[in-house]
Amino acid sequence: MTRISFLFTIVFSVIIVCSSCREQPADTFDTYGKKADSIIKLMTLDEKIGQMSLFTSDMSSTGPTMRDDYVDLIREGKVGAVFNAFTVDFVRELQKIAVEETRLHIPLIFGFDVIHGHRTIFPINLGQAATWDTAMIEKSERIAAIEASAEGLNWTFAPMVDLARDPRWGRVMEGAGEDAWLGGLIAAARVKGFQGSSLSDNNTILGCVKHFAAYGAPQGGRDYHVVDMSDRSLYEWYLPVYKAAVDAGVASVMTSFNEIAGVPSTSNKWLLTDLLRDDWKFNGFIVTDYSSINELIPHGVAADLAEAAKLSANAGVDMDMQGSAFLNCLNNLVKSGDVSEKTIDEAVKRILVAKYRLGLFDDPYKYCSKEREEKEIMNAEQLAFAREFAAKSCVLLKNENNILPVPESVRTIAVIGPLADSKADMLGFWSGAGQAEKCVTLLEGIRNRTAGTVNVFTAHGCNVAGDDVSGINQAASVARRSDYVILALGEDRMMSGEAASRADIALPGVQMQLAEAIIKTGKPVVVVLFNGRPLAIPELDHMSPAILETWFGGTEAGNGITDILFGDLNPSGKLTMTFPLNVGQIPLFYNSKNTGRPINPENPYEKFRSNYLDSPNTPLYPFGYGLSYTTFSYSDVKLNKESFESNDQIVASVDVTNTGDRDGEEIVQLYVRDLVGDVTRPVKELKGFKKVLLRKGETATITFTINPADLSYYHQDMSYSFDPGDFELFIGANSRDTKKTAFSIR
Ligand code: BGC
Repeated sequence: MTRISFLFTIVFSVIIVCSSCREQPADTFDTYGKKADSIIKLMTLDEKIGQMSLFTSDMSSTGPTMRDDYVDLIREGKVGAVFNAFTVDFVRELQKIAVEETRLHIPLIFGFDVIHGHRTIFPINLGQAATWDTAMIEKSERIAAIEASAEGLNWTFAPMVDLARDPRWGRVMEGAGEDAWLGGLIAAARVKGFQGSSLSDNNTILGCVKHFAAYGAPQGGRDYHVVDMSDRSLYEWYLPVYKAAVDAGVASVMTSFNEIAGVPSTSNKWLLTDLLRDDWKFNGFIVTDYSSINELIPHGVAADLAEAAKLSANAGVDMDMQGSAFLNCLNNLVKSGDVSEKTIDEAVKRILVAKYRLGLFDDPYKYCSKEREEKEIMNAEQLAFAREFAAKSCVLLKNENNILPVPESVRTIAVIGPLADSKADMLGFWSGAGQAEKCVTLLEGIRNRTAGTVNVFTAHGCNVAGDDVSGINQAASVARRSDYVILALGEDRMMSGEAASRADIALPGVQMQLAEAIIKTGKPVVVVLFNGRPLAIPELDHMSPAILETWFGGTEAGNGITDILFGDLNPSGKLTMTFPLNVGQIPLFYNSKNTGRPINPENPYEKFRSNYLDSPNTPLYPFGYGLSYTTFSYSDVKLNKESFESNDQIVASVDVTNTGDRDGEEIVQLYVRDLVGDVTRPVKELKGFKKVLLRKGETATITFTINPADLSYYHQDMSYSFDPGDFELFIGANSRDTKKTAFSIR
């Protein structure tokens, strides 16, 4: 027997052994760790380093191209995983090289940014969060995983859970907004959706929570910029969202580009090893963000690539995304003793365990079924769900005189604006393998709904950006000819997402001029907003009678928004990120501190108070806000007791009545304030919510149960507990409009 066929036999015996251990508990690190160890024993150092290297294919690009020889590298056993490669044929082709042409035949993992859908694109994540519907969010990720895995993929770089309080940062579109508790629930739902009940199923994929950590808090909202915050803020607000994903069993973690307090995450041993592995017991694998090892050089913590590779390997990174730093430097670093081979073995083990969990050693072509690729992508059921999800993510910001829904009597509608008929923009940023031509625009949605009954006119008016006003008059004359106008304004899809920070978050270009001209016609005008972040639009709010926030709704955006506009569905979304009045107020979020000199609400400009000379402190639309076509009234809040022991349950209830003339869903929110703490506490903290359907005229008693332990926080000594004392409890329709009561804990 030659040496090669001997090794081949051993590796395949290992593979056969593991295929026959179905009766053993699946999916566990221990079960697969032993099998991984037996492979590691056979591996050369270079083969191990190969497993720790991830390269992009040339099919799609999500960062600067750094090398294009990934096929040769796979053949040489220098690649453990590939990203930006999908479709059954292409994945099979690359997998075949890894499995048939490398010495140890170890299969590749295939990753991709499946962020808000794979082929069927759902609303951007910030829009999804506005549903407050974790079951729907989980289902959307389940569909995304089914579609992605039907096209050869088995790893998504999601969920992105970065808490964000600065809407200038373009990546707020990918997250769940400004609240850590709600963000944690959504993070867990996403992990469950992607990973299902077992990663060994052929339609589940590895999740990758990112970007660890605190990438959502860059100074000035500028992408990739420095993050510097107190440990207390980090622990209390920013870390729990990643922790929620880890507790939900996420299979991998991605490091962030940013530094925290001077230490870039990719070389931060405290973050990756002490906290993530030792405290949180994370046993999946850690991948860098795109070339973030290399970026340790411009960050100024490594003099050259070798030092960068050493720092990140020793900090706890298992896999290098696209940078070739591990590939080029780790071998010498092991030889020189700067990185131990034990460190390498542990990293490789985690990566091989992930391959076992996916079942790739049983069948490397498990995700390469032509039949699934044809049947399980963009089918009618998935599209119907996408439509409902697009509708449910809409947030009605204003609706004076019930101008919405569009009255049945309307015979001519003008659909005007740069976003009225833009297929590509419906996708939003990070649109996976979504195809613009498959998207339904607002104009198409309205035409689908009204075919034969209403005349639909359209005009572009102006572009999203730029200063060309030449189309505005013509658009106004189209409006004048119509009974009713729908004005589609906002940002284009590239104005949010990665590397898309904005210093000014007003409506771009000359769109305000278009809005003025159209509103001046005196016709009923409804503004439909498309955007990837909260916008500062006080003038638009002042001027237009109705505004519907629709984010970027995905493949079925136009149909879903039309369902809302025409009242086939009643809007129920609520904001998970504050809309400021102006950029100067940023960061502006609901769970702020009171300060020693709080604003006087009776006299907001009083001197020597924490306020501005030229702006109120209050936002345009607060966290939790969103209207419905019906109205809800809230009774006073009742508590089971006024004073509690530390092991009591606090039961709060309120009667909510649908006082309008149609059925509707309401998101009832509960907030708490700890009046006296060891450290200062926020003026309100979300501690519960319930989304309920109330028929017209119906009253329901909504009950919340919280435990004193839910009121815990980090004290001066960083211990985490709650204090006896006095609290306020609020229940209401958003973080501003609430009914208040008080209780104490003895
Ligand atoms: C982004 C990540 C993404 C990666 C791979 C990076 O630029 O920050 O979120 O997963 O590219 O596409």
